[in-house]
Formats: sequence, C-alpha cells, structure tokens
Amino acid sequence: MSDERYDFIVASNRLPVDRVIDDDGTASWRRSPGGLVTALEPVMRDADGAWVGWGGQADLELEPFDWDGVRIVPIKLSEDDLEKFYEGFCNDTLWPLYHDVIAPPHYHRVWWDSYVSVNQRFANAIAAVSSQGATVWVHDYQLQLVPRMLRQARPDLTIGFFNHIPFPAYGIFSQLPWRVQIIEGLLGADVIGFQRVADAGNFSRAVRRLLGYSTKSPVIEVPHRGAHPARRVIARAFPISIDVAGFEHLARSPEVQARARQIREDLGNPKTIVLGVDRLDYTKGIGHRLKAFGELLAEGRLKVEDVTLVQVASPSRERVETYRQLRDEIEQTVGRINGDYGTISHQAVSYLHHGFPREEMAALYVAADVLLVTALRDGMNLVAKEYVAARFDDDGVLVLSEFTGASDELRTALLINPHDIDGVKDAVMRAIEMPRAERRKRMRALRKRVRENDVTHWSESFLRALAEARRRAGETGGIDALGELEWTVDRAPRA
Ligand code: F6P
Repeated sequence: MSDERYDFIVASNRLPVDRVIDDDGTASWRRSPGGLVTALEPVMRDADGAWVGWGGQADLELEPFDWDGVRIVPIKLSEDDLEKFYEGFCNDTLWPLYHDVIAPPHYHRVWWDSYVSVNQRFANAIAAVSSQGATVWVHDYQLQLVPRMLRQARPDLTIGFFNHIPFPAYGIFSQLPWRVQIIEGLLGADVIGFQRVADAGNFSRAVRRLLGYSTKSPVIEVPHRGAHPARRVIARAFPISIDVAGFEHLARSPEVQARARQIREDLGNPKTIVLGVDRLDYTKGIGHRLKAFGELLAEGRLKVEDVTLVQVASPSRERVETYRQLRDEIEQTVGRINGDYGTISHQAVSYLHHGFPREEMAALYVAADVLLVTALRDGMNLVAKEYVAARFDDDGVLVLSEFTGASDELRTALLINPHDIDGVKDAVMRAIEMPRAERRKRMRALRKRVRENDVTHWSESFLRALAEARRRAGETGGIDALGELEWTVDRAPRA
C-alpha cells in the first residue's frame, strides 16, 4: 500500500463507478447510476477525498486510481467472499431481516465469519488511506462493523455511518444471532444516519435492550469501557434524496420529450400509461401490483385498449435463490395477464427485465400518467422522487406505498397499503380518473417537498451533524450536552 492519505473518505460496498469492457477488450470505468456519487463528488473534490469500495467483479485486484477528480481505492472480493459475504450474509441474512422478514432470512455462521473478515478488510483499507483527524463516511448494511473496527484502529478519525435500508423493529432484529456485534459495530460511529425517524427509534431501542445504554433521542450515551472514554453517539433520520435539478433538466430536454412521445406511440397510444420501476426484488411488491392490475382488467374496470402497465424490473442479485424464484413468479404472472387480456394491437403489461440509462428513465417518467410504487418495505424509494422531479409540467399521479421512507415526506401522493389489494385497485382507478386540477395541486405540493430536500441538502445536513458532533466532543474530551442542537430533520414537517 502506498503512503497516500486523504482528509475525507467515503466507503461503500460498491464503488461509484462500474467497470466496462469495450469491444476491443479495453477496460474503462463508467459512473454508476445513483445519486450518492452526484451528491458527494463536489465534497470529495473540495476535501481531497477518496472512495473505498468493491469494483463489482470477483477477484479484481487493482491499484488506487483517479476517476473524474476522485481517488478510487478498490477492495478485492474473492468468489468465496461474494458467495458468503455479499450473496450470503448481506443479501440472504441482513436484507430480508431488515425488510421485515418478507422473505425468510438465513443464518449461517460461515457467512457471518466472512462478513467480519470483509468488514475488517474495508476498515484496514480505510485506516491506511486516512490522514490524521480525517472524516470517514461509511455507507449501508454491508459495512456495519466498520465504524467500530475503524475507531479501534484510528481513534483520531471522525466517523459517520448512513444506513440506506430500513432498520427493523426490535422484535425482528433480535432474531439475529450476531445482534450485539452489529449494534456495537455501528456505535463506533459519531453519527449514525437512518432514512426514517422510525428507523432511528428502532436502533435506539435495540441499543437499550441489548446493551442497557441510556438514550434520549437523538443521543446515545456510550459508557467508558477499558481504554475507551465515554462518548455520545447521535442516531437520527436524514432522509436521502436525488439530484432534483439535474433530473428536471434532463426531463425538459427536447430529446427526452420526443422519446416520451415515441414511447406512448409505440405502446399503441393508450389513454393512460401506468408505470412501475424497481429492481427485481421481493421487497418491491411487484406481485401485489400485478394482482391488482390483473383484477381490474378481469372486472372490466380497465380495458386493455385504454391502459398499459409498463413494468421495468431491473435484474438484481440473480445468484440468490429467493431472487431466482421471484423472477419466475413475476414472469409467469405477466405472461398470464398478457395471455388473458392482451390483443394483437395492445399488450396489458409491457415487462422489461433491463436496467435503463437515466435518459430513458426520464422519458418513461414524462410519458407515465401514473407511477405505481407498491413496496412492502423500502428504505426510501428514490424512484418516487425521480418521478416527481421529472414532472415539471405539474402533471402525473404518484401512488405510493406507506411502507416506503418516501411516504414520510410525500404526503400528497395517493398513499396505499400494498397488502390491501382492493385498496390498491381503488387508488389506481382514482389516479386514472383524477381531474387535472387535483393532479396539479398534488404534484405541485410533491415537487415543493422534493425540491426542499435534494441530495446535496441531504449530504450537507449529514456532514454538518458529523462536524458538529466532533467539534463538541473535542471541546469536552469526548462527552457533552449535544441535546441542545437543533435536530431539524427529526421534526420534518408533514405536508
Ligand atoms: O440501498 C440498498 C442497496 O443494497 C445499495 O447498498 C446497493 O448499492 C443497491 O441497493 C443495489 O444492490 P446491490 O449492490 O446488491 O446490487
């Protein structure tokens, strides 16, 4: 390892760039989709930053390199790490557990061992590139042990952690055989961010129940232990967002506008396009959505000539068995609905098992009269925010599951309980039949809310809280009255 050091380090399981191999066999890096890199890129450049993460392919061993002004520090994951750490513990233990056990989590000790060892590898790599007193921001459930490992190795660092997925209620979390280690791992951070106020509450409750520490939102008192002084940790909500202006700009472009018109034409000019956009994941409630749509067609409340459901289901975690089964189920249901209700000229469901570039997504949002989000549990759901950002015409109706983080902010959407199929059907009909004036009123309120909290606001709030926590800890040697701070996001207004 070289002796290069950075003042600001971001760590996430995946790097913000994907490795692509061109036709002539040369490898290059392309910005991966997602807002995190957009939000953090300016901060990284200003602060002399580095990003630590996995390059997305097994056994890829690479030296650090520069990408668009950001230093990239790749972590190697072997085929065995992928199987036990990524597909196993991350996506077949933690993912289902943290999403309310919609699918059963599997607990295997060898997966846990791999999780510990990969987290240690990340912590070592971060420690090796962090300058004295640097700020480190660790992301998501794949790296929950990193804050503590890092604090042990480098007590001089300021450490933030943000959990992008939900944090479950104690009754569910307590199933985890390694629940204490996870909680202790996270408490190595100075600030722990969650999507929803409820997630932060679930975490604090788990700390009280498992460790007996006293908590008074948003402060958790971590008592003195051995050589480690007492500390105060902040656990609170920082709802993530998207690059709102960038998305709107894209949606306004003549190319995207033309493509949106083309999409409608290619679908046979239906009166209404209903859109679903998800990773193909069992947490997204795609089956519930298809059931509701199929019943509306069966009952004649919708006619295939009038309405098309476009379902984008981007491929995800395809080596995990639960995901394989889900794909079979969804594709069978789509086939059945199209077989039962499609005509030569009109398909009921246009199902697309691909990921699409941002431009195509923006065109789909512009074309869609209704966006249907039926997630059974979702940390935030950025698709809902992207749809709102793209609707600069103040039109379109958002039907949004109340089990998404986004529903805390987007209160003027049509909120649904996706388990209540009759309720979903009624909401779809209401969205389709909604008068222009009401659509406009609701969308304007949604747009105002999304503009107030874009991804830059999110990252700035988090980093401000982190700087403040460290400043106060420094003033008093590790402990003082953080409770006086203004915790604005915890009191986010309900629209
Ligand atoms: O936000 C949840 C998350 O798991 C991210 O950490 C991740 O980048 C994204 O969803 C996609 O998942 P994966 O990295 O497993 O393909």
